[in-house]
Amino acid sequence: MTILTNRRTLLKGATAVAAVTAAGKFPMPAIAQGAPLKVGFMLPYTGTFAKLGKFIDDAFRLNVEQRGGKLGGRTVEFVQVDDESEPAKAADNMNRLVGREKVDVVVGTVHSGVAMGMVKVARDNNTMLIIPNAGANEATGPMCAPNIWRTSFTNWQPANPMGKVMYDAGHRNVMTITWRYAAGQQSVESFKETFLKAGGKVMEELWLPFPQVEFQPLITQIATRKPDAVFCFFAGGGAVKFVKDYAAAGLRQSVPLYGTGFLTDGTLQAQGADAEGLKTTLHYADDLDNPANKAFLTAFKKKTGQDGDVYAVQGYDSAALLHIGLEAVKGDFGARDAMVKAMGAAKIDSPRGPISFSRANNVVQHIYLREAKGGVNRYVSIAHANLADPATGCRLAS
Ligand code: PHB
Repeated sequence: MTILTNRRTLLKGATAVAAVTAAGKFPMPAIAQGAPLKVGFMLPYTGTFAKLGKFIDDAFRLNVEQRGGKLGGRTVEFVQVDDESEPAKAADNMNRLVGREKVDVVVGTVHSGVAMGMVKVARDNNTMLIIPNAGANEATGPMCAPNIWRTSFTNWQPANPMGKVMYDAGHRNVMTITWRYAAGQQSVESFKETFLKAGGKVMEELWLPFPQVEFQPLITQIATRKPDAVFCFFAGGGAVKFVKDYAAAGLRQSVPLYGTGFLTDGTLQAQGADAEGLKTTLHYADDLDNPANKAFLTAFKKKTGQDGDVYAVQGYDSAALLHIGLEAVKGDFGARDAMVKAMGAAKIDSPRGPISFSRANNVVQHIYLREAKGGVNRYVSIAHANLADPATGCRLAS
């Protein structure tokens, strides 16, 4: 496993190291299948989203290992950069990967604001970018491009079915709470779209800056105003603390808490009993009863000693998508048009269920209603089957 010793340090991945070791002192010369394909991971390896980045990285590598260290017949070499979930550093980090490290493809990132910076650079220099988490709607909306792909979700997707779920549960007057940045704002907007349409009312929207976790004053406002329920978007370390603080305030019974599934994904162990019974919507559930999910969870556990989650699934599927593209062109990364065409036609038997890709290059997938029980995000129902983002503003031809 490759470890970032310093957050501003780039380290070569395990494959490259193995090649150097196997050849003795020097990297092995390019052999029949051509030079290694260089994949640049631009992910958060520190901060509130550190675990999310690590799981994406681990699962992408797992997929490559399962193909004998290759994608589309090309040996894969990895380079990592810690983006620190810091939008101000996004362009520099991206330029380092593309300019100095000369990667063929960038896989990243988690944070919507950082992703927007990456998308701008990728559009300028036509770098192939696969987004394995960040939901910024624009990346596959007005900023869509043939070289920009997303295997995760738009912020619109997992939040949209929740309006109806909460209305049908009898909630009429709700409050929302989230971080004030693209993912939080777009999740709340999407939830409101369906909740208001059903006839519900939003009494108040509460915000705090990303990645702050001083939830107490806002939770006090919820206790004072007594809405029927609360919708939230939080993820990673922040989600762990929010769920614990909300339970500690004694509000779980009187003001039920709902959110997108990031609230409880990869976090249940740390949240313990405080997460029990939380209902969320997401494109994954731990106990999805399909062979791909079972095989994936077993393999991920074997590799990392940890239970896979939605972030790992997204990393795993990013490698699968890249493989499909490369296989169609026999590893020739220069045959970009044919590669993109094959990616657009991809149908992947993902651990999350069947997925395909829209004309905006965003994933089309089921959104599940789940309930946290005994440390597992259990499948309850399909909240919306094969949900495609509206991709408003995307001008790619279908
Ligand atoms: C985002 O910033 O787009 C984001 C981050 C973490 C998540 C989901 C979305 O879990």
